[in-house]
Amino acid sequence: MRQSRTVLAVALILTAGVAGAFAADAVSNSAPEPVAFVPASWHPAVQAGEYVGSRDGCRKCHLREYRSWERTPHAKAIELLSAEEQNDPSCVKCHSTGFGEPTGFVSMEETPKLANVGCEVCHGPGSLFMDKEIMKDHDAAVAAGLRVPDETTCRTCHNSESPTFSGEFDFETAKETGIHDIR
Ligand code: HEC
Ligand code: HEC
Ligand code: HEC
Ligand code: HEC
Repeated sequence: MRQSRTVLAVALILTAGVAGAFAADAVSNSAPEPVAFVPASWHPAVQAGEYVGSRDGCRKCHLREYRSWERTPHAKAIELLSAEEQNDPSCVKCHSTGFGEPTGFVSMEETPKLANVGCEVCHGPGSLFMDKEIMKDHDAAVAAGLRVPDETTCRTCHNSESPTFSGEFDFETAKETGIHDIR
């Protein structure tokens, strides 16, 4: 029984992989429209959803991470910028969430919930994975756009393009104090 389950699981993964390859082909030619809800049992190619915001999207299920994130500098990153700089793409690209992407930060007036370095900067836009059943299934969540951040994620902003960069960024230390409590 156990063995046949494994065989079935492998077959499913292979099928999903092949279908995923075709799906990736298909989407690459069209506009990046977000797709409809993906059932956890079905893993097409990774689809990125829309940005929903840390408070509206993630807080209710991840209160611990939300509260500890709120105490980090990331949660106030937009406040470091003057009103003028908050409209300057060369500043907000690293001080907000999803700037430059179709559903990301635009301005304080239009998208206040995407100000600051929110959850989705590191974990990906949440609309397609922020469902309890999908979230519990790591592969399904990843297929719906969840990202598992690593040092490379941090270095998209913590680099010499930042006007105030000290020249040093130690991932292990920065992870301890800069993200949120990790279970
Ligand atoms: C309806 C509840 C719910 C919402 C909303 C939700 N999550 Fe989750 N999330 C879960 C559950 C349940 C798990 C799996 C158990 C756990 O790790 O807590 C999970 C797991 C995770 C994980 C670990 C996943 C893994 O497999 O590595 C991350 C990261 C995460 N969520 C981020 C987010 C972010 C970012 C948002 C907002 C865009 C969000 N979640 C919204 C319920 C939710
Ligand atoms: C979207 C850009 C962006 C990404 C990605 C990002 N950060 Fe930051 N980070 C900032 C900004 C902007 C500040 C300054 C906020 C402030 O001082 O109020 C900051 C500040 C910090 C600080 C406190 C100041 C310092 O340099 O010691 C730590 C620690 C930190 N980040 C860790 C991380 C880690 C770890 C990652 C990756 C897991 C990461 N950051 C990813 C933009 C980013
Ligand atoms: C490449 C990403 C990036 C860009 C672009 C960027 N910042 Fe930052 N900014 C950061 C990060 C990361 C930090 C925190 C660590 C550091 O100082 O590098 C930060 C910190 C700051 C701080 C706090 C410095 C301190 O010493 O506490 C200010 C102020 C700031 N940025 C203003 C700006 C302004 C103004 C612009 C646009 C001209 C800008 N940033 C563009 C990533 C960026
Ligand atoms: C600056 C990047 C960054 C931001 C912002 C961020 N996270 Fe994370 N998150 C991480 C990293 C790094 C890990 C650890 C991944 C690993 O190594 O397992 C993590 C792990 C997690 C996990 C799984 C481990 C655990 O603590 O349970 C959850 C759930 C999670 N984050 C939710 C959130 C939520 C909700 C927010 C917003 C309130 C958020 N994250 C904001 C970088 C970030």
